[in-house]
Amino acid sequence: MPHPYVLLSAAVSLDGYLDDTGPERLLLSGPADFDRVDEVRASVDAILVGAGTIRADNPRLLVNSPERRAARVAGGRAEYPLKVTVSGSGDLDPAARFWHTGGEKVLYTTDEGAGRAHALGLAADVVPLGAELDWRLLLEHLHAERGVRRLMVEGGGTIHTQLLTEGLADELQLVLAPLFVGDVEAPRLFGPGSYQGGRLRLVESRPIGDVVLMRYEPTAPGTGPLPSAADHHWLALACELAAECPPSETAFSVGAVVVAADGTELARGHSREGTDPVVHAEEAALAKTDPTDPRLAGATVYSSLEPCARRASRPAPCARLVLDAGVRRVVTAWREPDTFVAGADGSAVLAAGGATVVVLPEHEDRAKAPNGHLLGR
Ligand SMILES: NC(=O)c1ccc[n+]([C@@H]2O[C@H](COP(=O)([O-])OP(=O)(O)OC[C@H]3O[C@@H](n4cnc5c(N)ncnc54)[C@H](OP(=O)(O)O)[C@@H]3O)[C@@H](O)[C@H]2O)c1
Ligand SMILES: [Zn+2]
Repeated sequence: MPHPYVLLSAAVSLDGYLDDTGPERLLLSGPADFDRVDEVRASVDAILVGAGTIRADNPRLLVNSPERRAARVAGGRAEYPLKVTVSGSGDLDPAARFWHTGGEKVLYTTDEGAGRAHALGLAADVVPLGAELDWRLLLEHLHAERGVRRLMVEGGGTIHTQLLTEGLADELQLVLAPLFVGDVEAPRLFGPGSYQGGRLRLVESRPIGDVVLMRYEPTAPGTGPLPSAADHHWLALACELAAECPPSETAFSVGAVVVAADGTELARGHSREGTDPVVHAEEAALAKTDPTDPRLAGATVYSSLEPCARRASRPAPCARLVLDAGVRRVVTAWREPDTFVAGADGSAVLAAGGATVVVLPEHEDRAKAPNGHLLGR
């Protein structure tokens, strides 16, 4: 089930705190950065904060610029993004500004929390998600029932930590402020928790007044059938590699990337790479890995086209090469059509060998683009 694009946004002190312990919210960034945040808010369909942030900061979470609100309306969107909050207890102040400013509001809660929220008369659509709150269900619900395609998450740390460690964040926009808090009781941006995703990719850094904005993307593949944010990045890269293949009238153009569980790229390749006129993308990429590398067992192979199940040019098809390398997860954009091999079913070969195959059809058009001349035959 599709999820919205999830953007985590936060400002932290030099020592990694989101706030101090005083009664007033600590202002970490300056006017230019608040204006940037306003611009990001104006670009999203929904803004989410945790119940702790509503209690501590009593935020409004509005788009403040009238021009940006007008542009939203002119573009056919609601004047304000949907406001979303999360509370297990349902115990929130009905007089908080969150409920009484801006546009529509949704509270995601537990079955028990929903009872309390109704009793308190919170001015929001109350959605119970079961005995416990499940982030995947929440994101699916926002996408399917509320049409949310871009979600901005503005804290606090409890929320950010869960979304990052569960592999559900697509982007982190972090502002570092030149302030020292030095109070161990103050809320932190992240942790404690366990993040298996290794290093994030820095995609931008920019000074804004005396603060610095850093934008990061996670790099870790998903686990099993669950796609992660980074699965899309890696599959898009495989599709880019497909476009680099020398053209052929008799074989598909395919790109492939092998990525370890912590997001380290192990190898990449594309069809007919180098001096080998018949090499397949997965074959070319796997040939560059060390067969004794223990990371292959937890790795994911991204291939713009489903790995082949049969081929004339080599004894072993790519589905077999993937299994023989020890890889047990494949992400692809497109199932192989019958153009060259009737009934090709690399996914079945992989599944029979114990591998999980994830198809992300969002990338199908890009995977097909360098193969247009072979399709429709
Ligand atoms: N600097 C910044 O950019 C920034 C941004 C936002 C917030 N902050 C600061 O962050 C602090 C608040 O952070 P916080 O970590 O205490 O609170 P939070 O993350 O805003 O909210 C935590 C609350 O959300 C609910 N919740 C979260 N995960 C849940 C789950 N899996 N199941 C059920 N309920 C769940 C719980 O509500 P219930 O207790 O109701 O069950 C929990 O107490 C404040 O000091 C605020 O100033 C700073
Ligand atoms: Zn192949």
